[in-house]
Amino acid sequence: MSLALVLHLFAATVWVGGMFFAYQILRPVAGEMLEPPVRLTLWKNVFWRFFPWVKASIVLLFLTGFWMIRGLGGMANVGWHIHLMLLMAVVMTVVFFLIRGKYYCGLKEAVIIENWAVAAERLGDIRKAVGLNLILGLITIAVAGLGRYLG
Ligand code: HEM
Repeated sequence: MSLALVLHLFAATVWVGGMFFAYQILRPVAGEMLEPPVRLTLWKNVFWRFFPWVKASIVLLFLTGFWMIRGLGGMANVGWHIHLMLLMAVVMTVVFFLIRGKYYCGLKEAVIIENWAVAAERLGDIRKAVGLNLILGLITIAVAGLGRYLG
């Protein structure tokens, strides 16, 4: 149980913390300092490195989550906060695969053919979707942490 919880927390930190850094720190600085060709290529390469970590985090969150649920006596025995955590994680995972499967492919192709207008549009889509997932991730952490106190 404790190993599962530690791995669970590592995975949540990598995913949600990575989104926070990208959205709140890297995005404004790259926007201020870099011209579109460099900025859009930077984002393509940044996501290329970040996404495998997100995929590993998702696998780990579900594996360790269900492992802990089993240890706690099954879904019927766990509090409402665990059900909500699972639901939020499913929504976040769907949003992530929309980013990875649709918007990121569009960004990558547009950067390769140097169509900066389309690349900027796809990056805008990614920004909105990451913003949504960041908010959902922070709410999930709050729900996870507070759930036991709220009954
Ligand atoms: C983005 C997704 C997720 C985030 C950010 C997240 C976050 C957290 C956090 C911060 C805790 C520690 C709560 C505490 O001990 O006070 C936790 C515990 C837990 N999570 Fe998640 N989680 C996510 C996904 C999932 C999924 C998919 C499942 C189920 C398959 C799950 C099941 C659990 C369980 C069973 C616990 C232990 C709760 C307890 O011992 O009371 N989580 N999670």
